Amino acid sequence: MGITTFIAQDPPEHDDQRRTVTRAVAPPNLVEMEQLIRERTGNVLDSLPEGETFDWVDTVSIELTTMMLATLFDFPFEDRRKLTRWSDITFAIPQPGGIIESEEQRRTELLECLEYFTGLWDERLKNPGNDLVSMLAHGDDTKDISPMNYLGNLLLLIVGGNDTTRNSMSGSVYALNKFPEQYDKLIANPALIPKMVAELIRWQTPLAYMRRTANRDCDIGGKQIKQGDQILMWYASGNRDSDVFDNADELDIERPNARQHLSFGFGIHRCMGNRLAELQLRILWEEILTRFEKIEVLSEPERTFSSFVNGYTHLPVKVTRRKS
Ligand code: HEM
Repeated sequence: MGITTFIAQDPPEHDDQRRTVTRAVAPPNLVEMEQLIRERTGNVLDSLPEGETFDWVDTVSIELTTMMLATLFDFPFEDRRKLTRWSDITFAIPQPGGIIESEEQRRTELLECLEYFTGLWDERLKNPGNDLVSMLAHGDDTKDISPMNYLGNLLLLIVGGNDTTRNSMSGSVYALNKFPEQYDKLIANPALIPKMVAELIRWQTPLAYMRRTANRDCDIGGKQIKQGDQILMWYASGNRDSDVFDNADELDIERPNARQHLSFGFGIHRCMGNRLAELQLRILWEEILTRFEKIEVLSEPERTFSSFVNGYTHLPVKVTRRKS
């Protein structure tokens, strides 16, 4: 489909395009967003049924990350589940009865995404705001980008901000149930939340790898890489490296070097939204701990059919509220 995006570009194009949108998730903007994220998180948690089984993935993780994305794009709120759909289809593997059944279906739906966002671009040209679409439409380095480059950057921001954080939210509930003594430790000491968030992102590794193309011959760990070779950087493997992390398969919310994880990548492409993701997870757990005694996972989750996205499609849970 000829899509280009700044995660697949080298400097100077990469740096120029990233710079244009990065302030949306820079610390001053995050401070402004914190209250809104807390309010929304509280509302979603307050509306959860008690004593009934429900799907944490759709009811909480997808809802919260989709609302966040809609805010970043200033996307019409009532249509926000379109963002979830576009995120899901971007990397889905076509199969009968799957999220998409063919490449043709992916193409058609992604062109609908472009059409919808072109409408928003035109609107923001006239009425700019403090959102990602306005930043792209008015940025010196992005205002003349091709439609396929616009679509590529949109999908990067949609998938970047959605699948990953969503699966960390579900993964946190799953992991704390799998390691109940860690859950008890967190309940006893909520000040551990920031450490738990870093460790969870290591343990979960929401994206298993990224691919790069070597632009020159080089040697990595004694292996010869030739210019033009494609290599996979397996974050999932680095995050389980026993030379760096003791008992790497275990969740340890007090792990001293959890922040050395590779889940956000490394170098000039290191995740742009990492602070926002951590903020969303921190607030989620702060608000969970004030409301619920426990969130109980009732059976093994259903997993995303992918080697790239390490995620969950269903996680059946039950919640018990604190007595006053
Ligand atoms: C736990 C949540 C998240 C994880 C695990 C994650 C992971 C990653 C990884 C592995 C990369 C590639 C790094 C590389 O190639 O070296 C990346 C890049 C990126 N992420 Fe995230 N991400 C998360 C949340 C977010 C959020 C909330 C946003 C929203 C704005 C976002 C936006 C991006 C963008 C725009 C890039 C491309 C950066 C570049 O090429 O310069 N991510 N992310």
